[in-house]
Amino acid sequence: MNTEELFKKIIAHAKEYGFIFPSSEIYDGLSAVYDYGQMGVELKNNIKNYWWQAMVRQHDNIVGIDSAIFMHPRIWEASGHVGAFNDPLIDNRDSKKRYRADILLEEHLTKIEEKIEKEIDKGRRKFGDTFDETQYRATNPNILRNATKAVDIRTKMNAALAANDLDALKQLIIDCEIVCPLSGSRNWTDVRQFNLMFSTQLGSLSDETNTIYLRPETAQGIFVNFLNVQKTGRMKIPFGIAQIGKAFRNEIVARQFIFRMREFEQMEMQFFVRPGDELKWFEYWKTERLRWHQALGLGHEKYRFHTHEKLAHYANAAADIEFEFPFGFKELEGIHSRTDFDLRRHQEFSGRKQQYFDPETNERYIPYVVETSIGLDRTFLAILSAAYHEEPLENGEERTVLRIPPALAPVKIAILPLIRKDGLPEEAREIMHTLRRQHPCQYDEKDSIGKRYRRQDAIGTPFCITIDHQTLDDHTVTIRHRDTMQQIRIPAGNIHPYITT
Ligand code: GAP
Repeated sequence: MNTEELFKKIIAHAKEYGFIFPSSEIYDGLSAVYDYGQMGVELKNNIKNYWWQAMVRQHDNIVGIDSAIFMHPRIWEASGHVGAFNDPLIDNRDSKKRYRADILLEEHLTKIEEKIEKEIDKGRRKFGDTFDETQYRATNPNILRNATKAVDIRTKMNAALAANDLDALKQLIIDCEIVCPLSGSRNWTDVRQFNLMFSTQLGSLSDETNTIYLRPETAQGIFVNFLNVQKTGRMKIPFGIAQIGKAFRNEIVARQFIFRMREFEQMEMQFFVRPGDELKWFEYWKTERLRWHQALGLGHEKYRFHTHEKLAHYANAAADIEFEFPFGFKELEGIHSRTDFDLRRHQEFSGRKQQYFDPETNERYIPYVVETSIGLDRTFLAILSAAYHEEPLENGEERTVLRIPPALAPVKIAILPLIRKDGLPEEAREIMHTLRRQHPCQYDEKDSIGKRYRRQDAIGTPFCITIDHQTLDDHTVTIRHRDTMQQIRIPAGNIHPYITT
């Protein structure tokens, strides 16, 4: 199965088992907007809780807030989002389809990369065990030509984006002979900037002064509450403020399922530090955040850092933690050293001082900020795609199993009476009654036990407890492990300690 087929199967599975539904489906859906179903909401809440525990509960000097989505419009002027939160867009006049100019170029570059990889595969087949990839890359004329071409395009694209030179971007698209995937034509409009914020009207008057925005990041809600929290919480630098909440972006290239959505959730933490200490804390948070991801057990090899060479105007260091999704390594979390840009701008725009008074040194200063910003939906997708496995069984059948980290599984324990009579359902419900105080449980008595195991595998339940006639005699149950499918018999009273150790 190629990665595209695999990704389609994961999307279909997410729908079939109540994890994710397309939004407004009975009205043919709403592009890049999704609803989380009965299983999805549990997994999502568990991820949020896992993050909150690690970031807020485990740190003396980090507290949380929950700020409003609507904020004063001046905030987005101060933050730079009104002026600069733009994507360069280009339309194809024949298909009337709109594209992000940089993405068209990125896709062109991916095609060149694929040509290089094909050439390497050819070499590998030709030379077998004696194949030396490094040497082949350095000498094969086709590879060299394509590699040079790719470097040239990337350099020109980065220069055009950095200089905001929209004509140069269009010229590059023309020079690369990029065609519209729908019409096949090169009939392009000029490239224009398009602001990604959604706007709406506050109150009943629809004039410009009432225009407000749906927040495109949760971070600004933290910045504008920095002094409220610092003073009321008597926080001393260094300290952090964390928040989980919705963000909205009018993404033009909205694809890859819940990877790029128009309405999504972020889990962000702004860490306020003394000016000059920010790069030390930047390294600290890079290490801490990678450790958090790795503790999920999805495989260390699935993560890598991407250090930003081209920095946003507010940053003096930035790195992404990338995850290997079915469509390749892509950004999952950003760690940004944002300097004092945001607080300084809010001080300027609001006319209110945003300074911290250091009681130890008697100094006043605007703190610097190191931010960790992770997409909740992307984390969900990372877990879902790494968890999805199709496995052959000994009896010749196949099972689809979600190897979700047990602590995050929507259902932790399935309670299954072997048959629907002889008092087994009653005994099973009794056992569930005590367990559900500590764990999410699901009771299921329909169909054969094999079918029920398959259903639980498909939603990622780590433990299945079967109640049979022996249970009535000696109060023992069988416990089946999702990943190994092994079963052992234990006293019903030991289920909780057994699964928590
Ligand atoms: N406050 C900084 C900030 O918002 P960002 O890199 O634009 O930085 C942070 O976004 C994270 O939010 C990303 O790493 C990604 O996980 C998630 N994210 C951003 N745009 C998204 C979208 N359209 N759909 C889903 N997740 C998104």
